[in-house]
Amino acid sequence: MYEYDVIVVGAGGAGLRAAIAAHEEGADVALVTKLHPVRSHTGAAEGGINAALREGDSWEDHAYDTMKGSDYLGDAPAIETLAQDSPEEVIQLEHWGMAFSREEDGRVSQRPFGGLSFPRTTYAGAETGHQLLHTMYEQLVKRGIEVYDEWYVLDLAVSDEDEPEDRTCHGVVGYDIQSGNIEGFRARDGVILATGGLGQVFDHTTNAVANTGDGVAMAYRAGVPIEDMEFIQFHPTSLPSTGVLISEGVRGEGGILYNAEGERFMFEYGYASNDGELASRDVVARAELSEVNEGRGIEDEYVHLDMRHLGEERITDRLENILHLAKDFEGVDALEEPMPVKPGQHYAMGGIETDENGETCIGGLYAAGECACASVHGSNRLGGNALPELIVFGARAGHHAAGRDLGEAEITTGKRDEWESGDVETPVAPGEAGISGADAVADGGAAAEGSDLSPDELVARATERTDRRVDALLENDGRNHSEIRSDVQESMTQHVNVFREEEGLKQALRDIRDAREAYQNVGVADQSRTFNTDLLHTIETRNIIDIAEAITLGALARDEFRGAHWRKEYQERDDENWLKHTMLSWNDGSPELWYKPVLLEGEEKRYEPKIRSY
Ligand code: FUM
Repeated sequence: MYEYDVIVVGAGGAGLRAAIAAHEEGADVALVTKLHPVRSHTGAAEGGINAALREGDSWEDHAYDTMKGSDYLGDAPAIETLAQDSPEEVIQLEHWGMAFSREEDGRVSQRPFGGLSFPRTTYAGAETGHQLLHTMYEQLVKRGIEVYDEWYVLDLAVSDEDEPEDRTCHGVVGYDIQSGNIEGFRARDGVILATGGLGQVFDHTTNAVANTGDGVAMAYRAGVPIEDMEFIQFHPTSLPSTGVLISEGVRGEGGILYNAEGERFMFEYGYASNDGELASRDVVARAELSEVNEGRGIEDEYVHLDMRHLGEERITDRLENILHLAKDFEGVDALEEPMPVKPGQHYAMGGIETDENGETCIGGLYAAGECACASVHGSNRLGGNALPELIVFGARAGHHAAGRDLGEAEITTGKRDEWESGDVETPVAPGEAGISGADAVADGGAAAEGSDLSPDELVARATERTDRRVDALLENDGRNHSEIRSDVQESMTQHVNVFREEEGLKQALRDIRDAREAYQNVGVADQSRTFNTDLLHTIETRNIIDIAEAITLGALARDEFRGAHWRKEYQERDDENWLKHTMLSWNDGSPELWYKPVLLEGEEKRYEPKIRSY
């Protein structure tokens, strides 16, 4: 068994920042990560980092734009923390040597982004995430922080008191992808989940194949509530054939969207009469699909994004990466032709419930970055707010886990008696929902006896259980996971997309439950232990099923239209009934639905919900 003060799971922007912060506090830190740090999906982030750095801008304006962008479902303490801390974090990155794009006078450049009232998005060409990742990786190496890369964390070692709020996380169980060994990692002070996105729940996504929502699913099954899962962002400009992202930076620099008639539809059809292409993402994604549905799409599928008028010099200076992506993935020379684009799953606004210090309701368990939900983004994230979230909340989680006092959080975590309960639409598949036949054998009732175990014994027990589970999966001669996974992905893209309606959501639930049943008899064909991707993807598929169900249950229950959640049957935002977060807790495999109120009270003012137009 390995032993550290703080263990960070995942090495994208949030994980790296958390590890550095914990190390700054003097903690002995290890990063355990499925991918080498510089291969993390943060590297695919293109456009930029919002931070109020300039005269004429303020953290208050950043907070207001973010609250409005969230369609009043974000929590003010988290939003204000993001807006207040991001300038300092960006300056920190600059001091660490990040290669930001700059003005003639040497200042870090900032560009307009959707839904912002000030051009506050700092950037490094159209490869901001790549630069950020490499900058922080250098800091990691400089500090000698231990990295276990190509180690896949399969489970958390959590004590098993009845109420999640009484439990403690003492470590994780890791699978060494190279050797096939399974080892326990004991964390003396804290475990920080920074496992990133869940885009692989859908079949058209800007996300990497590794983004399977592992941290969200693990935390959920360990008893941590997951929050606002129905709010999925569909980025308006992904390439149709692959889902590869074309940055909002193109529109920030002046790129224009056209339909098949050559009309600038954002203005022509009144989708966003003021901000046009730079309206918030949910607005632009709906506009594009409306154009296609009304017969003004190109090849009944996509619209055009044109940046030719910006000129070669400006394009190569600020957006060079886009030229390569359009050429390599769509065969388009974007200096000469418009690019085909359509909405693609991009980001999960919801995730593991945390407070503004990254703490979950389970002692010693933290989450930061896309897998977490402190509720900065509410029902819709603004472009350029993901990277500051990673560094701001990654840093806070790292400092806090290593013992720094950040003051008492205003956001509460865990279920309280006074919170409202909800109804889950239909019961989950009977029996061992979420656990395959092989897993059920491996679990073999081992969970019950553990409350009196020492932390070491708990980690050892979790390790043995995981070992048995993996053996059972390898021995089971069942169905391959890949069809089960693609059935879920296709159904989610068809039914739980930009436009949602009740019948489609119910169909998605039926499909997910069929997948769950099929997964009971999943088998792994490759019996080897070395680089067994069949085994890894089989385990990921279980996470995909659990998360798809959570997204769909939340979407079905929320009968209003807010932010990225559009419902055919409910065409209005309903502040009287729905200023509340959707919460799901895992009760032995049966999702329990409840709601907690949105916090609109900021440090100095209340953010009164207003009509949201751009
Ligand atoms: O469009 C983009 O460059 C993506 C940025 C973001 O998701 O924040």
